[in-house]
Amino acid sequence: MLTLRGAGGASPAPTSARRGRSLSDLGLIKDGALLVRDGVIAAAGTRAEVEKLPEARGAEKLDLGGRVALPGFVDSHTHLVHAASRAEEYELKIAGASYEEIARKGGGILNSVKKLRAATAEELKKRVKAALKQFAAHGTTLIEAKSGYGLDVASELKILKLHKELAAEQPLEIASTFLGAHAVPEEYRKKKDGAERYIKLMEENLLPEIAESKLAEFCDVFCDRGAFSVAQAKRVLQAGRQWGLAPRMHAEQLSRTGAAQLAMLLRAASCDHLEQVNKKDIQAFGKSETAATLLPGCDFHLGLKKYAPARALIEAGAIVALATDYNPGTSPTLSMPMILSLACTQLRMTPAEAIAAATINGAYALRREKRVGSLEVGKQADIAVFEVADYREIPYYFGVNHCWMTLKRGRVIHAPKEYPT
Ligand code: NIG
Ligand code: FE
Repeated sequence: MLTLRGAGGASPAPTSARRGRSLSDLGLIKDGALLVRDGVIAAAGTRAEVEKLPEARGAEKLDLGGRVALPGFVDSHTHLVHAASRAEEYELKIAGASYEEIARKGGGILNSVKKLRAATAEELKKRVKAALKQFAAHGTTLIEAKSGYGLDVASELKILKLHKELAAEQPLEIASTFLGAHAVPEEYRKKKDGAERYIKLMEENLLPEIAESKLAEFCDVFCDRGAFSVAQAKRVLQAGRQWGLAPRMHAEQLSRTGAAQLAMLLRAASCDHLEQVNKKDIQAFGKSETAATLLPGCDFHLGLKKYAPARALIEAGAIVALATDYNPGTSPTLSMPMILSLACTQLRMTPAEAIAAATINGAYALRREKRVGSLEVGKQADIAVFEVADYREIPYYFGVNHCWMTLKRGRVIHAPKEYPT
């Protein structure tokens, strides 16, 4: 069992994010066991220790048969709600068209916006529910979900309301993010000062409603060449903060714009992508409380050679997290195990570092590290169980899913067919 417990295994659990060498500390317990009460971990230790507890004797027993158990993955960056894939752009990508070229030709984010606007809430819900089952089947127990394929008041609210509905109706936890600043919508591109006018719409018509109805917890901006500028991002994130939404950012993916410095200045919860960061940015992350979330699925899917400098970030002491960036344009995967494989082979992270980045540091990036991300007393019993002999085999086997069982708050939410749930 990998507990990811804090240094010394102290109780109550210390709740700091992992930096540098502590990223490799998985708190492994051989023949481990947990005692769970009302969905929360009441005891953690070796099986012998836990079985001795008086409360354990009367407890219902779930035998994992010696498989590897670890905290459920926290996928801290997804674009959960979208209407369809963009498979029609795939050959163009393969032939060498860049992400930006495809967007200029009417593909890209605006292509997904057209599809989402045309879809009913029911259609979207059906698709998203199936995706959520898949997330759980790959060991994920908490996901962040961004809006951003609506880009008008009704469609953005349609997405955010769906986050809220689904969070209440199915077992996976969803942290909702408003990403109205994903792209300037088509209808504003023809207008003079279109981007500014669209930002005004977000400030005046969207953010108040989102805050009032508690539809999002975070506000995100795609700040990059061809998307929003640093000055525009600052304006949106400050407006979001005024309405109680904590900032997070898409930064330094296609070009270095200085977006990461803005994220740190604003004390964003997380700053994501980071393929193009420079030395100064890397050093700054080492001292910052803002998580540096890496999304290697994007570079893999787009066939790009330049991955984020994970080793330099870890060595500088940055809080490195990993996420899928599940979306139809750059990263159509919801498999955290696949992301771990990419983190190991492409980012040169060790399996231990990758697992910590995908659990406790993901939880930190969503400001939930006190509640989830490790298997310690007082935390939620969110557990992923893998049919492997050694935890390193989770990233080692790639493109296959060895997740055997997933539990959320102590309840089985994914299990093999033969297992009675
Ligand atoms: O995280 N970079 C911006 N947003 C997404 C891609 C969105 C899309 O292409 O549909 C990302 O990579
Ligand atoms: Fe993204």
